[in-house]
Amino acid sequence: MRPLTVIGNWKMNGSLASNADWVRIVCRGMEQGMPAGRKYAVCVPAPYLSQCGQLIQDCSLAFLSLGAQDVSAYAAGAYTGEVAASMLKELGCHYVIVGHSERRQHHHEADEQIAEKALQVLDNDMTPVICVGESADERNSGREVEIVRGQISRQIAVLQDRLADCLIAYEPIWAIGTGKVASAQMTQDMHRAIRLQLAEFDEDVASHVGILYGGSVKPDNAVELFAMPDIDGGLIGGASLNPQDFLAICQA
Ligand code: 13P
Repeated sequence: MRPLTVIGNWKMNGSLASNADWVRIVCRGMEQGMPAGRKYAVCVPAPYLSQCGQLIQDCSLAFLSLGAQDVSAYAAGAYTGEVAASMLKELGCHYVIVGHSERRQHHHEADEQIAEKALQVLDNDMTPVICVGESADERNSGREVEIVRGQISRQIAVLQDRLADCLIAYEPIWAIGTGKVASAQMTQDMHRAIRLQLAEFDEDVASHVGILYGGSVKPDNAVELFAMPDIDGGLIGGASLNPQDFLAICQA
């Protein structure tokens, strides 16, 4: 049975003061009781990992895990500005997002490099959240499944059965930050296609891997999305910045 997993992605937002308020409100909310058998995490900008890790540790009930938004594809060395997976592990991270469409777009990250990043995360006993998804043009020309299958097959080529320890996040680019959420059925269909592709590789991997949906998830659409059989949770951008909305999505 795959647990429902809800992960916030703050992207490049936050401040020392607002982070402290956010963690306090979310921890207090979670202490009132959360649905059993679920996992929750928040991926914060790298400079705030230490602060947020400490704040989360100070919560009396540690429901929430810490995550990072990116990682180097290399273990250590002359890579100015990069952050190694071992460093994220030391700061208490459990999850690391890799291959977010904003990194594919602005930093020209390719699938092979993304898979190398996922390997670094796995080698340091954390869970990679591997993002895939099509653009508006790709969907409008009916190529969405082909595009996502290509992204997944390049992950399978490198990761092989270590994919069983990853999460996949399906984030259609046209739904990110636009308020245009993919319908629950449209999302379920893509998640099903991903699951079937994983099963072509290995049935066991397919049944283990959680497939999250990301793209304009809000408290009012989360219930319908999370009720779908192949949607195992969400990767939440904008709505995760508001602690009350994030809590509401975690409870959906
Ligand atoms: P939004 O929830 O703001 O659409 O962002 C989704 C996302 O990119 C999460 O990684």
